[in-house]
Amino acid sequence: MLRARQAGLCLLVTLVATLASVGLDAAEPLSPAAQRGFTFVRLHCAGCHAIGKVGESPLRIAPPFRTLHLKYPVENLAEALGEGIVTGHPTMPEFQLDPGQVGDVISYLKALER
Ligand code: HEC
Repeated sequence: MLRARQAGLCLLVTLVATLASVGLDAAEPLSPAAQRGFTFVRLHCAGCHAIGKVGESPLRIAPPFRTLHLKYPVENLAEALGEGIVTGHPTMPEFQLDPGQVGDVISYLKALER
């Protein structure tokens, strides 16, 4: 009995993991903040950065957003986004986001880590 239940749970976990790897919204819907962040980055950042779970950046030297958390906690970007992100790379325009937008973008970046 217990075994059957464990097997069922196992299957469920596999299923969820598969769905999660297919797309962000398949397994767990984005929070409203992350959804707004997604809309924002799609508009302002996707021209250069890969913003999804898969895919290459349109501009090769721009890091895909899903890799940012491998370098530092994405919360660290809050200050930079609020004060105007300067990457020292001339092709990256300087952005300055209002606090609400910063929170939204960070939420979206966090959702990418799942
Ligand atoms: C015109 C192209 C372009 C756009 C638009 C753009 N970026 Fe970038 N971004 C780049 C490039 C190129 C780099 C790599 C810079 C480097 O390696 O020095 C970069 C790097 C970054 C980094 C990594 C910085 C680091 O040092 O780790 C972050 C974070 C980032 N961009 C955020 C954003 C966000 C958020 C937006 C939208 C609001 C955005 N970018 C829009 C081109 C762009």
